[in-house]
Amino acid sequence: MRSSRWWQSAVFYQIYPRSFADGNGDGIGDFLGLIDKLDYLRDLGVQALWLSPHYPSPNVDVGYDISDYLGVAPEYGTLADFRRFLDGAHGRGIRVLIDLVLNHTSDAHPWFQQSRSSRENPKRDWYVWRDPAPDGGPPNNWRSRFGGPAWTLDETTGQYYYHFFFKEQPDLNWRHPEVKRAMWEVARFWLDLGVDGFRLDAVSTIFEDPSLTPHQSSLPEAEMLTEGRTNRSPEETQAFRQQFELLFRHQTHQPGLHELMKELRALVDEYPGERVLIGECHKIEFYGNGDDELHLVFNFPLMRTRRLTPAWIRANQAERLAAMPPGAWPCNTLGNHDVGRMKTSYGDGVHDDDLARLHAAMLLTLKGTPVLYHGEEIGMTDWLLDRVEDLRDRQAVHMYRLLIREGVPEREAMRRAAEMSRDRCRTPFQWANAANAGFSPAGATTWLPVNPNYAQGVNVADQQNDPRSLLNFYRRLIAARQASPALREGDYTPLLPNDDHCLAFLRASPEQRCLVALNFSAESLTRNVALAPPARLRTVFTSHQRRAADEDPGHLTLAPFEAYIGEIQPS
Ligand code: GLC
Repeated sequence: MRSSRWWQSAVFYQIYPRSFADGNGDGIGDFLGLIDKLDYLRDLGVQALWLSPHYPSPNVDVGYDISDYLGVAPEYGTLADFRRFLDGAHGRGIRVLIDLVLNHTSDAHPWFQQSRSSRENPKRDWYVWRDPAPDGGPPNNWRSRFGGPAWTLDETTGQYYYHFFFKEQPDLNWRHPEVKRAMWEVARFWLDLGVDGFRLDAVSTIFEDPSLTPHQSSLPEAEMLTEGRTNRSPEETQAFRQQFELLFRHQTHQPGLHELMKELRALVDEYPGERVLIGECHKIEFYGNGDDELHLVFNFPLMRTRRLTPAWIRANQAERLAAMPPGAWPCNTLGNHDVGRMKTSYGDGVHDDDLARLHAAMLLTLKGTPVLYHGEEIGMTDWLLDRVEDLRDRQAVHMYRLLIREGVPEREAMRRAAEMSRDRCRTPFQWANAANAGFSPAGATTWLPVNPNYAQGVNVADQQNDPRSLLNFYRRLIAARQASPALREGDYTPLLPNDDHCLAFLRASPEQRCLVALNFSAESLTRNVALAPPARLRTVFTSHQRRAADEDPGHLTLAPFEAYIGEIQPS
């Protein structure tokens, strides 16, 4: 086995800059705040950050609509601040990946401004323009992922432009060589500056079918907009995914994508120090031959469930790991800025605290690079807005209006919009039991309301010095993982294949073998985890205090919701 690469053994941590730390008191997160929190990140024990977009943007899609790829949003700081942040992170042994949005720009980007100015403009073909249908309507029935048609008429030139997301996010035409050239220059700019790689946004949407084949799906719009919902049964999830894929079949996963990813991979490989590509995509194909496309591809299927049960996790791992090409490395996550917070999504309303720990232990012990979303480590939960004017996620505003048009009463429409709104997981980070949760100073109006549960212990300051806090659980768990070659790099072998309550597996590297046993039930249980040859377990980590230093795998007792890791020792 080759020795592991930094991005295989690192714990990644996603930062949503608008919501992380407000250094100048304007209610919006920024680099000043972020720099101030680098010690916190070092103490948490993470080795890499993925920073959501930090570029100038009209913020129709909170930064995912970029109007200048070479700059820093003024509300976040300057390029010099970015450099200070990067140096500060590197100085603490933390690498930094930034978000690269390839599929589209903002409609305020000069490229689009030029493109839309006339049909003869040299940048016209940088975007996807088409004539109206004979009746003057959109060229075909394609839909925008964020609601409404995927085409918007531009009065000036009488043609429609294509946008997979909001109409303020026109799709670039990646079949145009100059687009590629311009975007590769962007990539080089940041690589030259020293970033350690990119999280590639919305990878599968980069190309669309040039013959504009219409879709055949009947998925209602309001249903489509709830893609991130996890409270479907497995059967409903499967049916939903089929319809969803049918709907976007001609707008996603089109030919050319893998060649493009290979080209970008070759570009980052020119740089020293192993720069890394993580794709916002889940298909195994994006690994290429295991070493020539993306380094990491998110295991999103793991997340698509209401309950993370042992059976679900085992089935996910079995399918995923079997499908991966040799050399490819998994990447697991349970939350990000687009979906519900993991504590809310996978809780049962009764044992949420226990489950949050158990799920973290699962994420940090499965084979693969774990990606955490900021706030998980203190148990931040979804916060549902109740006033339409507070919504910042335009997708939710669209949903609300749609429901009102359908005759849904206002309160109900607001509740449903809030439930699907990505604002629910984007509220400001909770640093202290203080005004504005210590994110912004007292008196500031934060860009999204603060979740009031900061006053109930969901904040860093209260958890910092409490050895039993979730924060310290994460710190201990990350430290245990990082100290263990088996957990960082080892292979995965499932045990107890039919157990409904206990998820047990081995992680084995040439240097070490570990047993992981996670009790998903509220009862204590005892299992015989037969190991051959017979062995003892040296306790490496437990979520519970009362454990012996040495355990018998033939008779392993787990407390309710206990996460246990033992190193296998010859007996
Ligand atoms: C990705 C981002 C999401 C954004 C979309 C369009 O899915 O994660 O936040 O809205 O791409 O850029």
